[in-house]
Amino acid sequence: MSENPTNATYVGRPLDRVDGRLKVTGGATYAHEHVEIPNTVHGYILGAAIAKGRIARIDTAEAENAPGVLHVMTHRNAPAQPDFGPPVTPTVPEVFTRARPMLSDDRVRFYDEPVALIVAETFEAARAAASLIQIRYETEPGRYDMEAHLAEAYAPPRTNAGFETDSAIGDFEGAFAAAEVKLDVSYTTPYQHHNPMEPHATTAVWSGDNLTIYTGAQTIANFRAGIANTLQLPLERVRIVSPFIGGGFGAKLIVHADTVLAALAARVVGRPVKIALTRQQMFANAGHRAKMKHDVRLGADRSGRLVATSHDVFSATSGFEEFCEQTAVFVRALYASETRRTRHRLIGLDTNRGEWMRSPGEAPGMLAFECAIDEMAEQLGLDPIEFRIRNEPTRDPERDVPFSTRNLVACMQEGAMRFGWEKRSSQPRAMRDGRFLVGYGMAAAMRPNYIGTTRARVRLSGNGQLTVQADMTDIGTGTYTILTQIAADATGLPPSAITVELGDSNFPRTAGSGGSWGAASSGSAVHNACLVLRDRIVAEARRADPSLKAEDAIFANGEIRWAGRGEPLGQLVGRLAPSGIEAEGQVERGDDYRNFSQHSYGAHFVEAGVDMDTGEIRIRRMLSTIGAGRILNQKTARSQVIGGMVWGIGAALMEESVLDPRYGHFVNHDLAEYHVPVNADVPSLDVVFLEEHDDKANVLGSKGIGELGVCGTGAAVANAIYNATGVRVREFPITLDKLLAGLA
Ligand code: MOS
Repeated sequence: MSENPTNATYVGRPLDRVDGRLKVTGGATYAHEHVEIPNTVHGYILGAAIAKGRIARIDTAEAENAPGVLHVMTHRNAPAQPDFGPPVTPTVPEVFTRARPMLSDDRVRFYDEPVALIVAETFEAARAAASLIQIRYETEPGRYDMEAHLAEAYAPPRTNAGFETDSAIGDFEGAFAAAEVKLDVSYTTPYQHHNPMEPHATTAVWSGDNLTIYTGAQTIANFRAGIANTLQLPLERVRIVSPFIGGGFGAKLIVHADTVLAALAARVVGRPVKIALTRQQMFANAGHRAKMKHDVRLGADRSGRLVATSHDVFSATSGFEEFCEQTAVFVRALYASETRRTRHRLIGLDTNRGEWMRSPGEAPGMLAFECAIDEMAEQLGLDPIEFRIRNEPTRDPERDVPFSTRNLVACMQEGAMRFGWEKRSSQPRAMRDGRFLVGYGMAAAMRPNYIGTTRARVRLSGNGQLTVQADMTDIGTGTYTILTQIAADATGLPPSAITVELGDSNFPRTAGSGGSWGAASSGSAVHNACLVLRDRIVAEARRADPSLKAEDAIFANGEIRWAGRGEPLGQLVGRLAPSGIEAEGQVERGDDYRNFSQHSYGAHFVEAGVDMDTGEIRIRRMLSTIGAGRILNQKTARSQVIGGMVWGIGAALMEESVLDPRYGHFVNHDLAEYHVPVNADVPSLDVVFLEEHDDKANVLGSKGIGELGVCGTGAAVANAIYNATGVRVREFPITLDKLLAGLA
C-alpha cells in the first residue's frame, strides 16, 4: 500500500508562503518579541576594548548601584562553566555542541569578547550602566595580520564538515612542470560577515530546574546540546523554542553570547532575561567568514585538457578554536584533470573563530577558482564554456563513484542559449554602450548534496486536520510551505487542512537548517511519516470492514477511496479513531549517499558595464541556470537562488570586513560601512530550473538549493568585468580603485 502513489499536485507549484500572512501582520513572534512573558528583564553585553590580554582590574560598583540595575556579571562572579575545548578543529558534531563558556576567566581572546553582562529593568538602564564599568586591561601583543604570518601556516587535522585536509591524485608537480599551457595565480578573498536581518537574540526563562530558551536557532538539537553542555545541565532540562528566524546563513548554527549569558543570568536574578546583540556586536560575536589567500595552478595541453590542477588555501583562523573552511574540497569533484592536489592551511590569529557562512568552502573557493578557469580558457583561446565541457568528468574524479545526476553541461548550454552568450566577444574591451565598457562572464556552480538523520510526526485528527511536527526550522527559506506541499501530496489532503509546527525541541529531532540539507531531510521524513499514517488509516478501515483490500486504497482530494467509494479522511478518523491517528517517519543517510557523488549544479551568466573613466561597475543583468533535482516550490526555490546571486554580487564587488592590523578589530562593523548590494545595485535577475529528478538523493528526488546560488556567482561577475575591461583584479572585492589603474 505504501507504494500507492497519489498524484503529486502541490509539490513543485509556486505556492505562496503559508506563514506569509503571519509575517506581514506581525503575528510571527521572534526571539526578542516575547512580551507575554511576565517580569522579563534586559541584559546588555559589554565587550572588551582590546583584542588580546587580560583584565587586570574591573570595577562594577557604580554600575551595580545605577538605577534599575539588578545584577552585573563578570568573570569574578559568573557561574562555573567547562573550560574552552582544545583549539584543533572539532569533530562533527562536537563543533556544533561543545560548551561555549562566557565570562569564564580574565583572558581576552578577541576584540569585543564579552567582559561583563549588565542586567536591568530596561534595556536603556542596562546599557547606561555598562558605561559606568571601569576596566584596566593588560594588553599583550596580538597577531592580527594574516599576510605577516603566512610563513607560520599549518595544516589542521581536517576541514569543516570532516573532509581530508589535503588530497593528491597523481604527480601534480611533474605534470604541471611539463604542461604545454600553464597558469599560476593567487587570489585573495576578504573577511565577510553574514548579518541576518534579525540580530542574535535570546529570551531565557527558568521554571525550577528547567530552562526554556526562545532564540533564533537554525538547528534546535545543536542549540539544546550546546546550552546543556555549557550550563552542565541534562538535555531534558533544556527546551529550545525557535519557530521564526529572521535569517541565519550559518550565523545561527551554534550558541553565541546572547544565549549563554541570558541562560546564566536568568538563573542568577530569578527572572526571565532577554538579550540581543547589537548590529555592531555581531561583527565580533556572531561568526564571520575568514580571510583567505588562494594559490591556483592549472596545467593543460593545447587541446584544452587539464593535466594538472591545484588549489592551495591559506586561511586566517582563531588561536583558541580553529575553523577551517572546506574551501578547495569542491576542486576534488568539479573537473577532470590527470593530476590534482588540494591543500588547506591555517594561520592562527587573535580574533574570534570563523564560522559557517552560506556555502562554506565553495563560496570563497569558487570565487577564486572559477576566475582562474576563465583565465586559463583565455590562454588556451577557448570559450570558457567549451573549456569546461572538455574537462567534464564522467565519474567523481577523486572518489571514483558515479554522479547521481550531473547536469552541469546542460546548465551551461541552456544558460548560454537563453542569455545570448553567442553575442559575447572573446576579445576583452570589445563591447560598448555609451560610456560603459560592456562584458559577459560566466562561471559554474556546484554544491554537495547532504541529507541528515531526521524524524517527523504527523497526526490526523477527527476534524480532518493534519498536524506536522518536527524540530526543523524555517530560517526564511520556506520550510513551512514546502512541508505543507509534501504532506498534501503524500496524504491527498489540501494545504488548508495541514498545519506545520516547527522549531521546538519538544518535537521530533531533525537535522535542522544548514548545509542546504534542510528541505531534503525534513521533507523526506514528513513524506515517510505520511506513508506510515496512510498504512495506519487503512488498517483502521480494514479493522471495521475486513473485506476492504489494502492495495486498492487511494488517497486523493481529502478522501480515502476504495473501488469508487470515497470517505473524507476526517470522517473516517472521527468514526473509527476519534482521538486521532498519529505516525512518525524518518530518514537517514543511506547507501546511495556513499555510492554516488551527489551535488547540485548551476551556471551563472552576468552582463556587466564599467564606466571607462570612473571605473564605476554596474551589473546589467544576470541569469542562473540550475540543475538541483526536483524543485519543491518554484517560488521559494527562486527566492533562494536570487538571494544567492545577490550575495555573489556582494562578494565580487562590495563585501569586506576590514580588520585593523594594529588593534585586531573589525573597523567597518555596521551596515553603513559593510557594504552589501541594495536594490539599486541589483539588476534583472533570472533563474531557470532544469527538469531533474535525482532518485539517489532522496525519496522526493530533490537536492539542496539554499547555498547553490552563491557558488561561483561572484566569479561570473568578475569574469564579466574582465571581459568588459581587460583588467583582471585578483583581490576581492573588485572596487573601482583596483580597476582604475588598469583602465587608464
Ligand atoms: Mo549553512 S552556512 O550550513 O547555514
